[in-house]
Amino acid sequence: MIPEHVTIIMDGNGRWAKQQGMQRLFGHRAGADSVRACCEYAVEKGIRYLSLFAFSEENWSRPKDEIDGLMELMIKSVIEEEPVFMKNNIRFRVIGDLSKVPSRVCEHIRECEEHTMNNTGLTLIIFLSYSGKWDIVQAVNRYAADREKGMVPPVCTADIFSGYLSTAGIPDPDLMIRTSGEQRLSNYLLWQCAYTEFYFTDVLWPDFRKEHLQNAVSEYEKRERRYGKTTEQLNK
Ligand code: FPP
Repeated sequence: MIPEHVTIIMDGNGRWAKQQGMQRLFGHRAGADSVRACCEYAVEKGIRYLSLFAFSEENWSRPKDEIDGLMELMIKSVIEEEPVFMKNNIRFRVIGDLSKVPSRVCEHIRECEEHTMNNTGLTLIIFLSYSGKWDIVQAVNRYAADREKGMVPPVCTADIFSGYLSTAGIPDPDLMIRTSGEQRLSNYLLWQCAYTEFYFTDVLWPDFRKEHLQNAVSEYEKRERRYGKTTEQLNK
């Protein structure tokens, strides 16, 4: 069965740029073409959610010119892609700690989110200034505040807690892809990836195209998702 939610840790832009004898930003800009290719694939295949880890909380410690370049790229991409989102019925969302993101970037993001909010096809989610630990901590704090006001049951459950995460209402990823040969979660969707299938590829993100995403989806379709049960129980 085709995954409902595919999430990608887009990695290897810097190494790709270095291979070309170029600055790291050159790799990030090339990576935007891979984003477009993956969106096209997701729309064609009827994938409901495509989410991309574009910038982690830890990435704020990168050199200022790289951060500035990535923020400008975000604005440029949002402006350029909005007509494509409208044409393809794509809903655009950004999730993360936007209090750290320059207000100019936030304004463009909010505008694009508003313009596309009634689109009913693919939901494209960009995780920006995001980390899994940040998400869990903000959820704990919001739950605790509501509990103090008596607005929630005093004993928390996984379902209640999920409703406080920044991804509330979005199904957990079925398939997580990481490019560039790295095999770790890097403080990404820590809670949400509890039962996600992982797929790692050596392809660097700027080289990642539809056929690579197709390969990952095909591999996913061969996996047996048991959620702790036995194969016999599943086949009953
Ligand atoms: C990781 O590669 C990539 C990033 C930190 C940035 C990802 C951003 C894009 C692909 C830009 C396009 C995104 C949108 C949403 C328009 P790295 O720099 O860590 O690569 P390295 O490990 O080879 O150094």
